[in-house]
Amino acid sequence: MNLINSELQGFVTGYHDNMRRKHLVSLVVLIFLTWNILMYYFLVSKNPTKNENRVLVSDKLRWLQNDIEKQLRDNEKLLEDLRQIKDDTVKKEKANKLKTHGVEDTDPATHKIAVLMFSCDRTTVSRSLDSLLKIRPKGDRFPIVVSQDCGHKPTSDVIQTYVKKEKGLVTHIKHPNLTDINLPSPKKKFKGYYKIARHYKWALDQIFHKFNYTAVIIVEDDLEYSPDFFEYFSATYRILKADPTLWCVSAWNDNGKSGMVSDDPELLYRSDFFPGLGWMLEKHVWLELSPKWPDSFWDDWMRHPDQRKNRVCIRPEICRTSTFGKKGVSKGLFYDKHLKFIKLNEKPIDFTKKDLTYLIKENYDPTFHKTVYETPLASVTDVITLRKRSLPALRVQYSSKEEFKSAAKQLKIMEDFKAGVPRVAYHGVVSFMRSGQRIYLAPPEGWTGYDTSWT
Ligand SMILES: *[C@@H]1O[C@H](CO)[C@@H](O)[C@H](O)[C@H]1NC(C)=O
Ligand SMILES: *[C@@H]1O[C@H](CO)[C@@H](O)[C@H](O)[C@H]1NC(C)=O
Repeated sequence: MNLINSELQGFVTGYHDNMRRKHLVSLVVLIFLTWNILMYYFLVSKNPTKNENRVLVSDKLRWLQNDIEKQLRDNEKLLEDLRQIKDDTVKKEKANKLKTHGVEDTDPATHKIAVLMFSCDRTTVSRSLDSLLKIRPKGDRFPIVVSQDCGHKPTSDVIQTYVKKEKGLVTHIKHPNLTDINLPSPKKKFKGYYKIARHYKWALDQIFHKFNYTAVIIVEDDLEYSPDFFEYFSATYRILKADPTLWCVSAWNDNGKSGMVSDDPELLYRSDFFPGLGWMLEKHVWLELSPKWPDSFWDDWMRHPDQRKNRVCIRPEICRTSTFGKKGVSKGLFYDKHLKFIKLNEKPIDFTKKDLTYLIKENYDPTFHKTVYETPLASVTDVITLRKRSLPALRVQYSSKEEFKSAAKQLKIMEDFKAGVPRVAYHGVVSFMRSGQRIYLAPPEGWTGYDTSWT
């Protein structure tokens, strides 16, 4: 058995053709089944002679039955192994292809990606639509769907003017369920978040089930967009499709304030933190999330390990969206303290002409770790007082939640965690700029995972 197994392994691994592999699996099953049946008939027809008593025959039959059952189990195991080998081979082939030839399994010009804009009762949706329409490439590759909740007539009228002007490229859909949501009084103040989650669920179901798109870029009615917003999503879409450890692309860097980002707009990263604020999602991920979609706080729910399952997003150094909205469920205070300082990229990058395969996990991780852990250590004070100014990059180490928070506060980056993940972090490392130096706020080398009790 083992010999056959390992021979087949070599054989199968050599094959690069899916169909032939399938045939091989069927063939192996067929051969084993045939063999079992032949064995059975051979032994049964040979045994029952008049001289032998019935007890002996029935013993033999029982023995035979056990034996056949055992063989069937072995065959199943073999089949399982073959399937595993097949899956591994497909994965390896895909990665190799991407590495050697660049990502080429998706023609960027043929895949439609919908842009879903969420709107409610702000007539300033026009500002967001104007910004988006100004940069949208010609043609129908990026159809815009504005989904409106709240039933606000003036906002609806504004959206309708775009539907008429843009002839088929802007669609207006309205959330049909405007019923109030009854909540017990401690939760009443969160009603807005419940309505948002309900609206997201409905609208995304429309995008993927009714309109049947395979991917969507989700935006809101208070965002503005960088000139290379569509270039960014077109190019990263190919990487998103190619790498199963990715589940989103976001236009957002949570630490993307002016002065805290490098001026190289080409820089992109992997992020364990789900950033939102202009982000792309594929249909297969939505099919997974939709049935268990939460009643409220959908973004924090997505960040939970039960949903994220260690998958990561691509995010830029310099944001491709910024928000002008003050009025909103969550954004009032946050806007004045933080959001309005976010830098929106203004130098367009032709991302679709660049090789972005460095973002694929097996290319990215070794380089990332090497870069971070070869960077000299420094204390927070070293960084703040510019004592090591001559070095292009510094690494500040943290070993506990308190150390992280304290360093983050002094270095003026986001201090919070969601499901144990600091904003922007990849493998625990938060990368940002300070006084022209690259700073990595990083755990000790040999990081193994997030501690979800860090909040
Ligand atoms: C509308 O929303 C409420 C509260 O979320 C829900 O209970 C109700 O079933 C929804 N109605 C429809 C028709 O979907
Ligand atoms: C949706 O698209 C898929 C291919 O992406 C196709 O097989 C399916 O028939 C389409 N469904 C509808 C309802 O148009």
